[in-house]
Amino acid sequence: MLTQEQISQFHEDGYVLIPDFKTAAEIAALRERAEQIVNDFDPASSKSIFTTKEQEQHIDHYFLNSATNMSCFFEEEAFDADGKLKQDKSLSINKIGHAMHDLDPVFSAFSRGPGLAQVAKQLGLQRPQIWQSMYIFKQPGIGGEVRWHQDATYFETDPVSVTTFWFALEDATLENGCLWAEPGGHKTPMRERFVRHGDVVTVEKLSDMPWPSDATAVPLEVKAGTLVCFHGLLPHYSAPNRSPISRHAYTLHVTDGATTYSPQNWIQRDERFPVRGFE
Ligand code: FE2
Repeated sequence: MLTQEQISQFHEDGYVLIPDFKTAAEIAALRERAEQIVNDFDPASSKSIFTTKEQEQHIDHYFLNSATNMSCFFEEEAFDADGKLKQDKSLSINKIGHAMHDLDPVFSAFSRGPGLAQVAKQLGLQRPQIWQSMYIFKQPGIGGEVRWHQDATYFETDPVSVTTFWFALEDATLENGCLWAEPGGHKTPMRERFVRHGDVVTVEKLSDMPWPSDATAVPLEVKAGTLVCFHGLLPHYSAPNRSPISRHAYTLHVTDGATTYSPQNWIQRDERFPVRGFE
């Protein structure tokens, strides 16, 4: 349940922090399940890495299929020059994505419930639809940077409705690569559009509006258990993690079913695997 002040902050700054939204027990259950998924993952099956830098070159079937399954992606710096893992597999995965919230009971339980439904409603989502889940490890030492972007780039609706639910599973600090955002930046235009045509994905530039600088951006250092909700047009970024401490987080990307979801978004669902909300 958000206070009026928190709702106002969301509209003014483009984001709101909700401390203690998840309990230590809920976090422990999700972490344990993520660990199992990584344990069960055979690194030989894919060396797909996740990078936000050379997106078009790294889009492959493994990535596209992950729209509706549970896939592990390596950190960009996970492998040495000989193609061998630099550190244990459990410390090499960048993220798991992108449909755990619908496929796995533990993830589904974490991703739904009356509390989340209430927050979504208060933020103005009339018919929330959860398109994507990501478990982000931000591994110690090699946790990759995520360059400046807006999540609306990946989930276009008319009008813009995508809202990100970002759960801190560990304390996020300047040292381990917390989020940075530009307060009020959600009032600036959408810079890019991530478009899928069959198996081909392209990034179209929509605006020359520059990304925020250190002068206007603020770090969102939050404690484990905090839920950060932000607007789809809010520019955000996270630095590489060079610290010895991981920075686990879990995210959901949610649009409003009352808007029109672009048929060119990379994740599509149909009646065999329908998109669902927080209920
Ligand atoms: Fe994002």
